Amino acid sequence: MREIKVGILGFGTVGSGTVKILQDNADAISARIGAEIVVSRVAVRDLTKPRDVSLHAPTLTTNPQDITDDPDIEIVAELIGGVEPARTLVERAIANGKNIVTANKEMVAKVGHDLRIAAQSSGKDFFMEASVAGGIPIIATLGESLAGNQVREIAGIVNGTTNYILTKMTQEGAAFEKVLSEAQSLGYAEAEPSSDVDGYDAQYKIAILASLAFGSRVNVEDVQVEGIRHISPRDIVVAKELGYRIKLIATAQGSPNGMRVRVNPTLLPLKHPLATVDGVFNGVFVRGDAVGDLTLIGRGAGSLPTGSAVVGDIIHCARNIVAGATGRVPYMASHDLPMLPAASSWSKFYARVRVLDRPKALAAIATIFGDHDVSIESVIQRAMPDEEAEIVWVTHEVREQDVHAALATIHALPVVRSVDTALRVME
Ligand SMILES: NC(=O)c1ccc[n+]([C@@H]2O[C@H](COP(=O)([O-])OP(=O)(O)OC[C@H]3O[C@@H](n4cnc5c(N)ncnc54)[C@H](OP(=O)(O)O)[C@@H]3O)[C@@H](O)[C@H]2O)c1
Repeated sequence: MREIKVGILGFGTVGSGTVKILQDNADAISARIGAEIVVSRVAVRDLTKPRDVSLHAPTLTTNPQDITDDPDIEIVAELIGGVEPARTLVERAIANGKNIVTANKEMVAKVGHDLRIAAQSSGKDFFMEASVAGGIPIIATLGESLAGNQVREIAGIVNGTTNYILTKMTQEGAAFEKVLSEAQSLGYAEAEPSSDVDGYDAQYKIAILASLAFGSRVNVEDVQVEGIRHISPRDIVVAKELGYRIKLIATAQGSPNGMRVRVNPTLLPLKHPLATVDGVFNGVFVRGDAVGDLTLIGRGAGSLPTGSAVVGDIIHCARNIVAGATGRVPYMASHDLPMLPAASSWSKFYARVRVLDRPKALAAIATIFGDHDVSIESVIQRAMPDEEAEIVWVTHEVREQDVHAALATIHALPVVRSVDTALRVME
């Protein structure tokens, strides 16, 4: 049987899961390709580090160029992470005629456009299934299975750490900081958690999905991002009482006029398919003009789930090599749709305001909302300690800039103690 040699850059969480799957399922994988996958070299930084998966010692190298420059290697899987040195190594591998598989969301979101063009013009494949939502096959779903659709909207829970934190806060009524430190001790959150809790990881992923769905370049910096640090246990309780769950939702909406791509903590009604995606699970909801609505749910990270996506890409690539058909799918992100400003978008909003418990406080706030064309769907006022009251508003669909302008004016009212939270509500 023909051998196809694969070189793997990185042998950490994802690299070791990838190698384990290729070893454990070798016979089935060979049968599915009609060729044998041989992991010929794996690059790491430290040869002495203990590894979860065993390899023949000579396979390991600390010199990535043993992979990018090896004329026998046909597929390079980049599983290092970050922009550099990953990007330089991938560019070198493409220049040397390799097909690329990567799990690297940051690299794909920031410089994937140029890398894909380079691979395409060399007639090589560039696959990136594992870069978004780990084991969930959302890239192939958008790029192939739904290729006959105009995708109208994508909404995803694409970061397992924040979903774990929000789920624990919902189940236990605990504060963000407490759940974060528990998540860190369990290994579900990094010691430096900003990339997850401030929304940047989700920002990379939704930029990739939007680019794929709308066939446009997406500048990551233009994706509006809001993390979850300011979500309080009180918001979670009030949202629950109103029949909602708070989730960190990455959304992309597209039309011929432009795209709206953003990451925000959002209230989801319990009937929304993403409302019950809990813990470290991820979920991606897609609305296409032909297919209608569909939702994929699964493990968004971890050695084997992410390895599953990488191995799927290696198999896809190997089949194309066997058929002499690499680089067959044209890369479509050749135009630049404008990014529409978030301020002009329409949504329902939830706002929680603390006021001095005085007559006419509610009326004063309602008047300001009315003056800014913000119409109210429901309002609940509750007495609180220290002669305060909490007022929770849910609006009808309103323009985002009108809500923010109204809340700024409300904040300045003498009777208002604080505007604690304002969040989007998705239906
Ligand atoms: N972890 C997940 O669940 C997950 C899920 C989806 C996507 N991803 C993406 O997958 C990629 C890999 O993540 P990971 O969690 O597997 O990372 P990781 O556990 O930190 O592994 C990184 C690997 O790269 C090696 N490496 C780093 N710099 C290198 C260099 N200059 N030359 C050679 N090797 C180098 C490291 O070597 P040493 O082992 O010697 O240190 C290590 O084996 C990232 O892009 C990440 O965003 C991860």
